[in-house]
Amino acid sequence: MKAVYFTEHGSLDVLQYGDVPDPELGPGEVLLRMEAAALNFNDIWARQGLPRVALPMPHVSGTDGAGVVVDVAKDVDGVSVGDEVITYCVNACRRCPACLRGEEVFCKRMRIWGFQTGPYDGSYAQYAKVQVQQVAPKPAHLDWTEAAATTTSLLSVWRMLVTRAQAKAGDSILVWGASGGTGSFALQLCRVLGARAIAVTSSEAKARFCREMGAEEVIRSDTDDVLARVRDLTDGRGVDIVFDHVGETVWPTSVESLAWGGKLVICGATEGFEPKIDLRYLWNKQLSFLGSHIGTHREWMDCLRLVEQRKVHPPVTRTFPLHEVPAAQKLMEDRQLMGKLAIRIDADA
Ligand SMILES: NC(=O)c1ccc[n+]([C@@H]2O[C@H](COP(=O)([O-])OP(=O)(O)OC[C@H]3O[C@@H](n4cnc5c(N)ncnc54)[C@H](OP(=O)(O)O)[C@@H]3O)[C@@H](O)[C@H]2O)c1
Ligand SMILES: [Zn+2]
Repeated sequence: MKAVYFTEHGSLDVLQYGDVPDPELGPGEVLLRMEAAALNFNDIWARQGLPRVALPMPHVSGTDGAGVVVDVAKDVDGVSVGDEVITYCVNACRRCPACLRGEEVFCKRMRIWGFQTGPYDGSYAQYAKVQVQQVAPKPAHLDWTEAAATTTSLLSVWRMLVTRAQAKAGDSILVWGASGGTGSFALQLCRVLGARAIAVTSSEAKARFCREMGAEEVIRSDTDDVLARVRDLTDGRGVDIVFDHVGETVWPTSVESLAWGGKLVICGATEGFEPKIDLRYLWNKQLSFLGSHIGTHREWMDCLRLVEQRKVHPPVTRTFPLHEVPAAQKLMEDRQLMGKLAIRIDADA
């Protein structure tokens, strides 16, 4: 089968498009003919390599996908050949106490599909295998690329805002990196929750997009003093929640932007992992710093209901054929995207 893969970490030119071995089904797994995939920033981390993270090589990236079931292992039931499905990126043992109590994100053997799995095990391929627990019916009203873009970002946002930060109607929520995949789902979810999203983004075109996604206010990181604008917009009080995945460069502003008793929830650090903090803010303002990582199957089901009810829509803004994954990754790396980028996969190509 054809796939996009790499055999060593590096810049975009390590990505190759070509023939790789077909996936072989193991117990509890289903084989998908991929119709579409979607980008996440962990594609960039995987390709570039991260300190102290060893990834299986050769590596096929792609943590989100949608496709048709074409084979199932003998022990699988509940999923049949011909089913149209979307994928859930959490590969776990399904047997340990954490898995059995529905917290597979704490499973010691949890691996993010298309990021930590392999060799050759992600959605940028004509065929892919996943555990049967990693599929759910494709929402019928979505096209394949929208369906593929429905999972990882939305699920992560749900866990961050609903489970971890317990966002509620009336909260003011500062959303960093608001125009990207994670950010644009966060804006939509704020609207559903009745919270007031204050988006931070880096251009006028992105600001317009953020408003379409549900931002009530937009702050321009390229032209505005973010902290001064937050204070203006909240009558000096600060925001109840900061939603962050940018990290090091924005951390000091995040901490100062929080209201007393506020919460900062973070799932990533695109701009660096080692922020400076004056710890006095932490206790004097009685802040909470909350980490969040992917989400459970239960959370996946909960957020998919919002998609089924048309309250949240996967914001796919551009689609590329499989062999153009490098062009799509370049847009992401250069911070030139809005919403989700998707990959259309043709089994006959
Ligand atoms: N742990 C988890 O569960 C989890 C889940 C999802 C994502 N993440 C992490 O969250 C981060 C964002 O992921 P994503 O998939 O949403 O990425 P994305 O679609 O590329 O969006 C990232 C956005 O962040 C802003 N940004 C700020 N500094 C940036 C920089 N140096 N390079 C690129 N973008 C920058 C940009 O928005 P503006 O131009 O609007 O500021 C950009 O659109 C990544 O670090 C990712 O690993 C973690
Ligand atoms: Zn487990």
